[in-house]
Amino acid sequence: MEDKTFYITTPIYYPSGKAHIGHSYCTVASDAIARYKRMQGFDVMFLTGTDEHGQKIELKAKEEGVTPKEYVDKIVAQFQDLWKLLDISNDRFIRTTDEKHVQAVQKIFHRLYDKGEIYKGAYKGWYCTPCESFWTETQLKDHKCPDCGREVKWAEEEAYFFKLSEYADRLLKLYEERPSFIQPESRKNEMINFIKQGLEDLCVTRTSFTWGIPVDFDPGHVVYVWLDALTNYITALGYASDDDADYRKYWPADVHFMGKEIVRFHAIIWPAMLMALGLPLPKQVYGHGWLLFGDGTKMSKSKGNVVDPLVLCDRYGVDAIRYFLLREIPFGADGNFTNEALIGRINADLANDLGNLLSRTTAMAQKYFGGKLPAKREEAPIDRELQEMAASLRAKCDENIEKYQFSNALAEIWKLIARANKYIDETAPWVLGKDEAQFPRLAAVLYHLCEVLRIVSILLTPFMPNTAPKMQEQLGISGEAVSYASAGTWGGFPESAVIQKGEALFPRIDVEKEIAALIALIGDTSGKAAAPEAKPETAKKPLPEGLAQIGIEDFAKVELRVAKILACEPVKKAKKLLKLTLDDGQGQRTVASGIAKWYTPEELIGKSVILVANLKPAVLCGVESQGMILAADSGEDTAKVLFVDGIPAGSPIH
Ligand code: ME8
Ligand code: MG
Repeated sequence: MEDKTFYITTPIYYPSGKAHIGHSYCTVASDAIARYKRMQGFDVMFLTGTDEHGQKIELKAKEEGVTPKEYVDKIVAQFQDLWKLLDISNDRFIRTTDEKHVQAVQKIFHRLYDKGEIYKGAYKGWYCTPCESFWTETQLKDHKCPDCGREVKWAEEEAYFFKLSEYADRLLKLYEERPSFIQPESRKNEMINFIKQGLEDLCVTRTSFTWGIPVDFDPGHVVYVWLDALTNYITALGYASDDDADYRKYWPADVHFMGKEIVRFHAIIWPAMLMALGLPLPKQVYGHGWLLFGDGTKMSKSKGNVVDPLVLCDRYGVDAIRYFLLREIPFGADGNFTNEALIGRINADLANDLGNLLSRTTAMAQKYFGGKLPAKREEAPIDRELQEMAASLRAKCDENIEKYQFSNALAEIWKLIARANKYIDETAPWVLGKDEAQFPRLAAVLYHLCEVLRIVSILLTPFMPNTAPKMQEQLGISGEAVSYASAGTWGGFPESAVIQKGEALFPRIDVEKEIAALIALIGDTSGKAAAPEAKPETAKKPLPEGLAQIGIEDFAKVELRVAKILACEPVKKAKKLLKLTLDDGQGQRTVASGIAKWYTPEELIGKSVILVANLKPAVLCGVESQGMILAADSGEDTAKVLFVDGIPAGSPIH
């Protein structure tokens, strides 16, 4: 029988400070996969947890005058609350202070020692007595302790070591034999280089602090971080305990997700430990990128520059945050977190594209047919494209999800949403609604929109677990009509459905007000120092005569986005025009632009430009132009296209 189990893990986080949006990123991504796999019928085990031992926690607790356990209990509860808030569907939550884990680590340590994989030696280095810390030569600052600046002395501490140095060849062979073991590809090359520089044995115990799992046969030694931390992935399943049924059922893991900074531990130390224990290896280790601030710095607890997910969820709702995290940054790459980008996505993708499609559709179904679509429907040739796109969407999502490309999967879903919105404009149901003879056609149009929304709602479920049911409620569908199986074919929208317009899924946000509020709450994430108060200054300048002032809400109606020119060719019937094929971050579109006089196609291909993305399409000399690109009129009959090279396609402009 086919293996229908799926085991996915996040790193276990250090409870040394509050959980931030960086932790949420990995956890939300793992959750989307867990939900997707469950929807596909897999028996899923989704594990997350906390990594609670070590000197750092011991010190923090001391500073606060509490025991280490008291200290972590409080922060772990915050992590757990946050996961609840973010609708994380983990099946288990492991704490390295769990008695079951402690006992299993002791057994594992014992086993490795008995096998000769762990030996007793000495840990050597520069020791700072007040800090009770060892430092390597390169870590020292001016030959002093990098933490407190005091004198250090050469010292040796008795310690146990794991024979990591003996695993170099086996690890290199593993990467070669299983090319997808480390993903993305670039991280594999980093690991290979690292191993080729030579592996040293790994220190796995310490005697200089006590907040850790004691080595049962040598009191005074506590297990040092990575052996304690990495083994969580098997101890959580009951490995080395009386009840290891889950270990037998779910191990090896299908994928370990983690940030790129700890791929080394998961791709080198962890498989070596498993080899030493004679256990199967995980199928894949996936190192995602970092969330950065607009100025390119990594968000991290130690820097204190973290965005609090609680604040964001409170203001915009959980699903908006989940969507943003998974849509904005290709998994694997680094990406910026900015308030502007977040609000841009909420307004453009969620309020406009998705929200409007649902509210227009349900409002019309109610208005024209009292919420029940008549069975008598008249199809037209224009329907075909929408049907085909919708029927093939699930396969496209599957393909991207298999590669953990959330952003691409969502982009595919939004292509269909955009197509459906355009279909409304093309079919003009409000015109059909004026003439009773056209009702069968109107019924078909609304059926198509409902069916698209049905399929979209199913495929959005893993990403936006609150929004999907809300959509389905308004569409009046449940049961088989919302199953994953039914999302792969056209025509599952039930005739009995009673459609009812409900609340707007995502209210539009007033950009300027909101950014100012966010800066006050969580700080400026734009990377620019631009304080909002600076803006009225420029508004005071006299306006060119004859131009009315507009409010920010008017400007917000114009959706400006970065687009990349993929192809460009002259238009036969019009000397002035160039036909551009653009990547707008969600897909391709054609724009005709009157710049042939000043630019050749060669000069434009590969450049990034500013696109007015929500301009009504128009046919110009036989070319359907879906938007326009911005150019400066530099007088004397010249124009300069505004290039924004280096900014990814799809980036919103405000
Ligand atoms: O490393 N962007 O715990 P940790 C993206 N306990 N992801 C981020 C992030 C950011 N700015 N900041 C944190 C540890 N993360 C160890 C792991 S596993 C056996 C032991 C996420 O609290 C990312 O997934 O430092 C990263 O790998 C993880 O949090 C590190 O969490
Ligand atoms: Mg870290």
